[in-house]
Amino acid sequence: MRIGILGSGLMGGKLGALFARAGHEIVFSYARSEQKLKKLARDAKGRTRAGTPREAAEEADAVLLAVHWSRMDDVLKQAGDLSGTVVVSCSLPMNDDDTALVVAHTSSGAEALAKRMAKAHFVSAFNTVPSEVLFDVYARKRRARRPSLVYCGDDRTGKKVAAQLIRDVGFEPVDAGPLRIARYTEPFALLVAQLAYEGKGGPQLGYRFERF
Ligand SMILES: NC(=O)c1ccc[n+]([C@@H]2O[C@H](COP(=O)([O-])OP(=O)(O)OC[C@H]3O[C@@H](n4cnc5c(N)ncnc54)[C@H](OP(=O)(O)O)[C@@H]3O)[C@@H](O)[C@H]2O)c1
Repeated sequence: MRIGILGSGLMGGKLGALFARAGHEIVFSYARSEQKLKKLARDAKGRTRAGTPREAAEEADAVLLAVHWSRMDDVLKQAGDLSGTVVVSCSLPMNDDDTALVVAHTSSGAEALAKRMAKAHFVSAFNTVPSEVLFDVYARKRRARRPSLVYCGDDRTGKKVAAQLIRDVGFEPVDAGPLRIARYTEPFALLVAQLAYEGKGGPQLGYRFERF
């Protein structure tokens, strides 16, 4: 697939590099310096380049939306119309100092975003693990016991693509259901972040759901 990265920071930069390793064509966009985007494209192995958000979105089979909540208006404006595009969002609706969700309980960041792009194939994924674990998960992807990764959405096309990308990175996709379940997955992401950044043992933390 051709995947446009909208927000090439900790999540977008790493996921873009891993998607490229898995064989996808990647356009890195939206950082404060074009040099950074070019370096990300150079360092990632595979068919990668730097571009503007509009270039990343144009003709993309999927885009990864990976910006801070405060940058959402700007990046979406720059990307242009996403109708018909699969939009995989790992973004969380955090306040400016990243201490609280600004949308929760009766809605979610994912639902608020999906409303803004009603004709996109929107899906929420990759937001429940810290960026620090992504390369380690990829490195162990041949192992039988993969870590879980929840995703949710109302759009079948978007969910199919998200499940494939989740597998490509080395996780076992766990379909959590419709997009309103993001009301649970988004606070859960904060729990994982708490354990990753404040718990013992470092931020390379994943999780695994098992049935007994
Ligand atoms: N980090 C995690 O572990 C994690 C985990 C789960 C979910 N999330 C969510 O995923 C989303 C992305 O998080 P992140 O940690 O990847 O964020 P990040 O590292 O801050 O990356 C955001 C990207 O936006 C760019 N940006 C910021 N302001 C800009 C501006 N004025 N003009 C152009 N580009 C600008 C940044 O540029 P620069 O590269 O120049 O800084 C960066 O490339 C957030 O919604 C976050 O809540 C993050």
